[in-house]
Amino acid sequence: MAVGTPLPGAARSPDDTSPLLRVEGMTRHFMVSGTRIDVLHDCTFQVARGEVVAIVGQSGSGKSTLLNLLGLLDRPSGGTYVFDDVDTTRLGEGRRSRLRGEGIGFVFQQFHLLERRSALANVGVPMVLGGVPVLRRRTRARELLESVGLGHRLSSQPHQLSGGEQQRVALARALSREPALILADEPTGALDAASSRMIMDQLLAQAELRGAAVVVVTHDPKVAERAGRVVELVEGRTR
Ligand SMILES: Nc1ncnc2c1ncn2[C@@H]1O[C@H](COP(=O)(O)OP(=O)(O)OP(=O)(O)O)[C@@H](O)[C@H]1O
Ligand SMILES: [Mg+2]
Repeated sequence: MAVGTPLPGAARSPDDTSPLLRVEGMTRHFMVSGTRIDVLHDCTFQVARGEVVAIVGQSGSGKSTLLNLLGLLDRPSGGTYVFDDVDTTRLGEGRRSRLRGEGIGFVFQQFHLLERRSALANVGVPMVLGGVPVLRRRTRARELLESVGLGHRLSSQPHQLSGGEQQRVALARALSREPALILADEPTGALDAASSRMIMDQLLAQAELRGAAVVVVTHDPKVAERAGRVVELVEGRTR
């Protein structure tokens, strides 16, 4: 995939298989009307650069909760989370959000694109936040959309695109700052088999060509079987 020159926060060389993230004894509980709900009891695992890991488990087992923690969108109740050699548990919000912006890309089941904005503008959003100059941003957004087969739909808005096309825009957006970690929560849940395959092809290519680590939550056995490793969440524990 031709995606131009690397940006800050890029993954290292594809040969570097050191751990990108380490989770040790991570827990997360929520308080609901004075009652404590323990969702994650003990999550311990590592993900190496260039690795593709599928997270599976029943509905309500805590997969999205875990992904939000890995994405630094939420803080654990206990345990440690080391991302890119940084113990994130002790970091302030400013450092966490910088790490997230530079190092982590997200893809969600429902795409989460901005309505009434073009595909090109949507892909540019993380680069706006990262202070990438406008011309470079446009060029790169176009290259990314071309790389996911949407070079002819640059000015289309989300409602003018099919579900599979919207997910490819969302994927291009997630890749725009060449994140070392790509997190995808049921990215193919709303798609047909052909579109799902295309999204998985793109995620696997990120790992193979660029050494990105990919963590994908899925219910789809076809998606899980293409991952290098499957982590199952059972009763709040990884295994
Ligand atoms: N902010 C919150 N407050 C209270 N409970 C929460 C919160 N977030 C998640 N939970 C609870 O944590 C449990 C796990 O939720 P989560 O969304 O992580 O499950 P999941 O494995 O992603 O399920 P699904 O496959 O249906 O998406 C659920 O019982 C949910 O109600
Ligand atoms: Mg979920």
